[in-house]
Parts: sequence; C-alpha cells; structure tokens
Amino acid sequence: MATDSLTVTDNRTGQTYELPIADGAIRATDLRQMKVDADDFGLMSYDPAFLNTASVRSTITYIDGDRGILRYRGYPIEQLAEESTYLETAYLLIFGELPTEGQLAAWVDEITRHTFVHENVKRLMEAFRYDAHPMGMLISSVAALSTFYPDALRIDDAETRMIETKRLIAKVPTLAAWAYRHSRGFPYVYPQNDLGFTGNFLSMMFRMAEPRYVADPVLERALEVLFILHADHEQNCSASAMRSIGSSHVDPYSALSGAAAALYGPLHGGANEAVLRMLAEIGDVRHVPAYVERVKGGEVKLMGFGHRVYKNYDPRARIIKQTADSVFEVTGRNPLLDIALELERIALEDEYFVSRKLYPNVDFYSGLIYQALGLPVGMFPVMFAIPRTAGWLAQWLEGIVDPEQKIARPRQLYLGSDERDYVPIERRAAVEAASVA
Ligand code: ACO
Repeated sequence: MATDSLTVTDNRTGQTYELPIADGAIRATDLRQMKVDADDFGLMSYDPAFLNTASVRSTITYIDGDRGILRYRGYPIEQLAEESTYLETAYLLIFGELPTEGQLAAWVDEITRHTFVHENVKRLMEAFRYDAHPMGMLISSVAALSTFYPDALRIDDAETRMIETKRLIAKVPTLAAWAYRHSRGFPYVYPQNDLGFTGNFLSMMFRMAEPRYVADPVLERALEVLFILHADHEQNCSASAMRSIGSSHVDPYSALSGAAAALYGPLHGGANEAVLRMLAEIGDVRHVPAYVERVKGGEVKLMGFGHRVYKNYDPRARIIKQTADSVFEVTGRNPLLDIALELERIALEDEYFVSRKLYPNVDFYSGLIYQALGLPVGMFPVMFAIPRTAGWLAQWLEGIVDPEQKIARPRQLYLGSDERDYVPIERRAAVEAASVA
C-alpha cells in the first residue's frame, strides 16, 4: 500500500477508501466517491472561511505562521526589506526571480512610462463628494480603468496580461495620491517621472507651489520598506478575492478593484485605520489597562492584534517597528506611540492574549508611521493597496495560467425548507396562525 495516502472508513456504509496525499493534502473531490446510495451526491468537506482548505498550488509567497516566517519566492522578508526596492520586489513577485541590472532598468523604465492616467479619470475622481473616503475613490477609479483599456479582457494573451500588469502597478499610486488630494481639496499633481517610485508618490501627495518636490530620503526609504512588506501575503482575503474574481476571466482592473474592496474591511487592510482610531480613543497611557479589560470582556477587539496565520510575532511588525523609529527621528515622535507600546507590553504578558497566541500584526505600527508622514487615517488602507497591487497581480497571473484553475464556485450545505407550495398573500396570515397554533 502506498504510504502517501489516507485510509478512511465510511461508518454509514462500512466501506473503506484510500485517498492519495500529495503535497500534504487530500483532494476534497476524492471524498465525492463516498456515497450512501447511488443517488447520493457524495461526501463534501465543510470549511467556512477556508480554515483548512488550500485552494491553489502557489510558488509565490511562503508563510510559516507558527515560526513567524515570511518569504517572497524563497527570499526572507527581512533581507528584501533591508536590501531591495519596491519595484525590484514587485518584479520578483511577478516573474519569480530577482532581475538582472538590465532587466530591472527596463522594468523600472516601463512602469515609469505608465504612471499617467487618462484625463477623463481625473474628471471622474473630481466628481466625488468633498469628503469621499479615499479608499472608495481608489476602488471605483481602478474599476473605471477597465473602460479605458477594453483590450484588457484578452486575458488569454500573455503580452496583454503583462501590459495591464505594468499599467496597474504604475497607475494605482497616481489614483491613490489623487484620492488624497481630493480629500484635502488640493489640485491633483501629475506624476514626475524623473523621481523614483516612492519619491514620485510623495511628490504627487505633497507638492504644493514648489516647482519640484524632493522627499526626505529617510521618509522615501521608509515608505519603500513599508511597500516591500505589504507587497504580498499569499492567500489572504483580498488575494483570494482577486483570484476568485479573476477565475471568471474578467479583466484585471475589475478583479483588482474587487480585491481592493476586500482589503478595505477593518478585519483586513482597514485594520491600520482602526488601530489609529483605537489609540486615539484610548487617549492616554493611563487608560490602557482599562481598555485591555474591555478587550478581555469581549466588548471590543484589540485592533492590529491577532492573525489567521501568524500565531507568533508577525515578522513584518518587527521590521515596521524599527522603520517607525527612523521616521520619528525626522518627523518627531508620534504621541500615540507610547499608548501602542504600552498596549503591546500589557498584551504580550496577559494570559488572554498569550493563550490565544495574539501578537501585533503588520497593521499595529504602520498607521503610526502614516500619521507621522501627515496622512489622514482614511488614507491608511490606500497605502496598503498601492504595494499589494503587485501581489494581487502575481496571484492573478499565476491563477490564469494554472491548468487546474476553474471558475471559483464553492458548494453549500443546504439547510433550508424542503419544497413547499406558494401561498397567496391574502392567505398568509391564516396559514401562519394555523402553523403557530
Ligand atoms: N482582540 C481580542 N481578541 C481577539 C483578537 C483581537 N484582535 N483577535 C482574535 N481574538 C480572540 C477571538 O475572540 C477568539 O477568542 P475565543 O477563542 O475566546 O472566542 C480567539 O482570539 C481566536 O480568534 P479568531 O476570531 O478565531 O481568529 P481569526 O483567525 O478568525 O481572526 C483576525 C483573525 C480577523 C485577524 C482577528 O485576529 C482580528 O479580528 N484582529 C483584529 C483586526 C486586525 O488587526 N486585522 C488585521 C489582520 S492583518 C491583515 O489583514 C493585514
């Protein structure tokens, strides 16, 4: 008997089955052969929220949540944060290997040439209310881009996929910066293509009357590090949204807009915004113990803590904490940092958090940096979406050429009413009364 297999006895029938194990998993469809009779659909696995279901085979990002390990294409996140740039990391995620000097120069040049958006996109963004949430503006404007690039629907064509990939990585920062400018009532700033990726982004965000905006190199590098850390995170909520929407063969703009919508939620990329609101609500280090009690009583969640996969310190949070120190040397210390440090200290010692393996995640400190850069909290999830664009696209590209990919279509366990006859509206009260009696 093969050793890489699972022997299962169906106690309803007494029959035994042998299911192959490949890469540490059985195929859920192998369960379908287990039936109580010929009419039976076959056994299914029930896994709400995909707690233990792998939906893809991937070679992009590796996470060991128990040991706090994160690698892109095999490279440890710590080394990439120390030595790489965001665009080089994006290349790595998309193509699978680090670029040569020539490949990197060509990649950076091509991304840079795609930073501008059609003027009509600008008008579309101008139509939002003055207080529109920048994430809502980003989600909508990314979706709108699909109407400017109808060719993007040709997802079977490798060259088209690559053009749209470059366009998206290049244009999302422009849309993001304009969403911010809109929320402040400032004129939109066009890309400045002789600046680097993060330098240009900071210019589109903060340039006012000066002819040229040159960001502080420490802040530019800090942003580069944040972008590297946020570039991908395997099959999280937004990446699986990207793959799931992409599995219908829609264009990548529409799929990425859906992924960004998934990121917006406070349990995902919106958590950095929620952390800052929480720290502001706590208001003072002296109020931290009382807040922790509220968390333990189940009244509120400690935002920026906990992770579906990491049951150890999130390696990104560790790097972000160091980055925060370098940023605060330039901008001055964020007063909320003391509250965050005290929260972390108490939580890491408290049995409630220890027993549940709740540690700070990437979002616990990133918001403090964004705030120190002068960004309003509404921009925080947008700052997450900019670099995650590369990861979403890498996931999408891998899915499109995966011979096993089909349209995503989960099954359900139907627990509703059996067949029953339609009751005309005038008779419903009487039927209801009869059923209660
Ligand atoms: N504060 C207090 N208690 C928590 C927290 C938290 N942040 N997170 C989890 N718990 C508790 C749960 O109440 C549960 O307790 P119980 O066993 O007594 O019922 C236990 O820890 C297990 O939590 P689950 O909800 O089962 O964990 P899950 O994997 O479903 O959730 C999640 C992960 C959504 C990240 C959760 O930890 C959370 O809501 N955290 C706060 C939001 C946040 O920071 N999100 C960002 C995640 S990182 C990212 O997306 C980039």
